[in-house]
Amino acid sequence: MQNPIIAALDVPTAEQAQQLARDLAPAVGAFKIGKELFVSAGPEIVKKIRATGANVFLDLKFHDIPNTVAKAVAAATRLDVQMLTIHTSGGSEMMRAAEKSAQDAAKTCGRPAPLVLGVTVLTSATNATLAEIGCGSDTEEQVLRLARLAVASGLRGLVCSPLEIVALRKIIPPHVQLVTPGIRTGSEPADDQKRTLTPREAIQAGANWLVIGRPIYAVANPRVAAEKILESIL
Ligand code: C5P
Repeated sequence: MQNPIIAALDVPTAEQAQQLARDLAPAVGAFKIGKELFVSAGPEIVKKIRATGANVFLDLKFHDIPNTVAKAVAAATRLDVQMLTIHTSGGSEMMRAAEKSAQDAAKTCGRPAPLVLGVTVLTSATNATLAEIGCGSDTEEQVLRLARLAVASGLRGLVCSPLEIVALRKIIPPHVQLVTPGIRTGSEPADDQKRTLTPREAIQAGANWLVIGRPIYAVANPRVAAEKILESIL
């Protein structure tokens, strides 16, 4: 099996990200570049991490009109990222445009298309959050509805909370890849992640990839932490 650990490079500067990536490369399967690092260090940081040979997950959660999302996905594909995120709440036309754009841009560049991952309901959202924006469903119903729509729109992967993996696995085809944050080993200090699973539990529940931030980058020895997590799931 491939190494399913995606280490989140949630650091503010390119230098810190490159240092962390150098240190972790042998122990993880990919690096996640999110909004903070991308906005401060730009596309150059994606190129630098890719130049080391590592896989990159560009987590910018695109949500816009289909044409704009398609162009952003094409640009990310030209940057040679292996995974990227869009919001499924942008609707089926937006999702189809994103997937097609990834396929077309990859073909032009002569490489495999990145995995376009659909984000359903943010884990920070509650039933009250959905109600205030006019959505009558509860969060669980809404996650399942958006997941079905994403698969019907041609997406090959979803980002989900660890506690949604089992329910999603029941309703989506087995080829759809599930990527989950909210992973905790049990040995780190409590923080803002409330509903977590251990790496082993998440893989057993049916996750393909684990996005792990603080349990790796915020400990004294990130490399050892990543190696321990990997051992726990092999
Ligand atoms: O430090 P931690 O392991 O909590 O980091 C998890 C990563 O996954 C962060 O980059 C965070 O923004 C992201 N994430 C999350 N929960 C979600 C979606 C993304 O923690 N529902």
